[in-house]
Amino acid sequence: MKSSSPIASQVRFFLVAIGSAGGLGNLWRFPAIVGLNGGGAFVLVYIFLVLVLGLPLIVGELMLGKFTGKSVCGALSALPKNRGVHPWVGRASVFFCALVLAYYSVVSGWVLYFSIRFFLALLNIQSAEPTSLGLSHVLQSSVLQAGLTIAHVFLIVFIVVKGVQKGLERYVSWTIPLFAILLLVLLQKSLALPSAASALRFLFYPDFSKLSFHSLGQAVGQVLFTLSLGFGTMVTLGSYMNKDEVLPAGVRVTLVDTVISILSGLLIFPIVLSSSRIPVGDPGLLFEAMPQFLLQTSGGLLFGFGFFLCLYLAAVGASIGLMEVIVANSMDRRSVSRRTASFFTGLIVLCLSLTPLIVTSIWSKVRWGQMSLLEVVDVVVINFALPLLALGVSISISQGISIKEQEKQFMGQGKTAENEFMFKFWKLALKFFVPGVIVLGLIGQVI
Ligand code: PHE
Repeated sequence: MKSSSPIASQVRFFLVAIGSAGGLGNLWRFPAIVGLNGGGAFVLVYIFLVLVLGLPLIVGELMLGKFTGKSVCGALSALPKNRGVHPWVGRASVFFCALVLAYYSVVSGWVLYFSIRFFLALLNIQSAEPTSLGLSHVLQSSVLQAGLTIAHVFLIVFIVVKGVQKGLERYVSWTIPLFAILLLVLLQKSLALPSAASALRFLFYPDFSKLSFHSLGQAVGQVLFTLSLGFGTMVTLGSYMNKDEVLPAGVRVTLVDTVISILSGLLIFPIVLSSSRIPVGDPGLLFEAMPQFLLQTSGGLLFGFGFFLCLYLAAVGASIGLMEVIVANSMDRRSVSRRTASFFTGLIVLCLSLTPLIVTSIWSKVRWGQMSLLEVVDVVVINFALPLLALGVSISISQGISIKEQEKQFMGQGKTAENEFMFKFWKLALKFFVPGVIVLGLIGQVI
């Protein structure tokens, strides 16, 4: 990131990192997964995991990027291999970034559709008939879905081509404040609904009987996904750090990302609970029934436009984060220009997105047990592949960077008693808690 005062540089880094971490994972996946796992008790487990899994790993990934100055593949290969560091972890991270970006772009396309439809209805340009404001309308037409996905990928390529400063930084510097304002306005409206009290109880009253061992695995996947960990994004962003320090940067991003998730729960549950037709834990039906509910409420068009615009701004920031990993790695490894790397990545992502497109349109009726194929992909990638990658990255960091260097990177400007205490906790967490929790989560998923 360009050199300037330390504060300006920290603010810019924070905006870029939060722009990538905040996304559909917070606003769409978090409420759905909390709904599926019974509410308050799951939220507590989630917050606990953010502290013992997410925070140590985000600090570790930023450290790896800052220390090596390279994105994930280059960073892992720069570490001494004889200490159990596997370069395939980096390659697999980049592959999964492309896969997730393909699937993410399809879902972002749905969000784009709703934003445009609510906007047009708001301006009275198009009528807001309930039939066209449902997910099934989008899913029925593969051409519409493909068009939306292509538009989304084009927008991402257009921003990423411009580079970190002119693209990413510029984008987040105006969308994050807009996102924050929109979120607060929407929250105020949603918390005024009569169902707000039951939503608060559902979210914050822990009923542990609703938790199962399986929930642990889901919480692990969600923490990693929402904080963009295991994909190499934070390693890549860490390589752009200069005056920032890894610990405060990691703490800020983790804190704000968690607050966004909780606020999304507060925004969505009053709406979900006030409409008897929306099952609390169904991700597809949130897209389906939320617009229908909004159409029936006064001011629903404006609220709906605000909600989907908020969701779309976040989805774009996260998509840029995913694409940046692939582009930065291609530039590192193949010495190609940013422009070539961005266009090729866009093309590959579009080809890969054919699968989720087919899965959600032509094969939409195909089911694996009770899950649609898209949900199967989501579970396999987020609950299995991602924890395994995160395990590889955490082992690589704790074994590949010498303790002396870790300490130097961690302490930043100066050694204080608190810093030293935090360093001891971090080392312990990265070496034992992170792998331990991930393995337990994986066992929970299999059982
Ligand atoms: N963290 C993003 C979200 O919550 C998803 C993401 C994952 C973005 C990995 C970048 C890298 O939606």
